[in-house]
Amino acid sequence: MKKFFAMILSCALFVTLAACGSTNSTSSEESTGPQTSEQSSQSSEDSSTAYSASESKPESEPGANALVIYFSRSGNTETIAGEIASQTGADTFKLEPATAYSTDYNTVLDEAQAEQRADARPEIVGSIENFDSYDVIYLGFPNWWGDMPMILYSFLDDYDLSGKAIAPFVSSGGSGFSGALSAIASAEPGATITDGLSLSSSASQNPGSAVTDWLADIGLAE
Ligand SMILES: Cc1cc2nc3c(=O)[nH]c(=O)nc-3n(C[C@H](O)[C@H](O)[C@H](O)COP(=O)(O)O)c2cc1C
Repeated sequence: MKKFFAMILSCALFVTLAACGSTNSTSSEESTGPQTSEQSSQSSEDSSTAYSASESKPESEPGANALVIYFSRSGNTETIAGEIASQTGADTFKLEPATAYSTDYNTVLDEAQAEQRADARPEIVGSIENFDSYDVIYLGFPNWWGDMPMILYSFLDDYDLSGKAIAPFVSSGGSGFSGALSAIASAEPGATITDGLSLSSSASQNPGSAVTDWLADIGLAE
């Protein structure tokens, strides 16, 4: 009889250990972390994120499950994107249109308006590797005619952000997000959208403290 109970106990112990082993191997796969063409350096500090998916974030690689995706024509949004990546250790991916916009400002105004009127989906150069492994997407763009540039709609069509947190940021001449936040929410109903960061064109050029405060406010500071 004693032997019988000893066998039952050993089986139960084995099953418990096997279950623990499989959990650990999942998180170590996640911690491998995807690479992008512009991968940022990562800090060695642990994350203090309040985001609900933080349980799955590999402790050894802060920022490894966050990606900054942005479009920028004249560099303002890009400066904010770089600051976010530098403060969080997130990877970055720049949305580049397959057909470049004109370098002439007035012509771009017309091109952007024509794309909006046509509800166009400009083709994005390249693709984001291991997109599924990211939990947090920092999504940045300039305000174009009271909306996002249409390449942002291409991105939202091409990728499923269900279950992810989207932290939006915008650079503008003063309009802020306009209707962009509700457009993102409609396109990605399965995602959680944090409060956004809105900076003017000039504030975008020195965004350090605004980014620090915003990351703390939304619970994503490293
Ligand atoms: C095609 C186009 C449309 C724009 N429309 C607006 C607008 O409706 N409201 C606004 O505040 N700024 C508008 N701007 C200004 C940009 O949002 C602003 O200059 C921004 O900082 C540019 O960011 P970037 O350098 O990352 O491209 C527009 C700029 C362009 C090129």
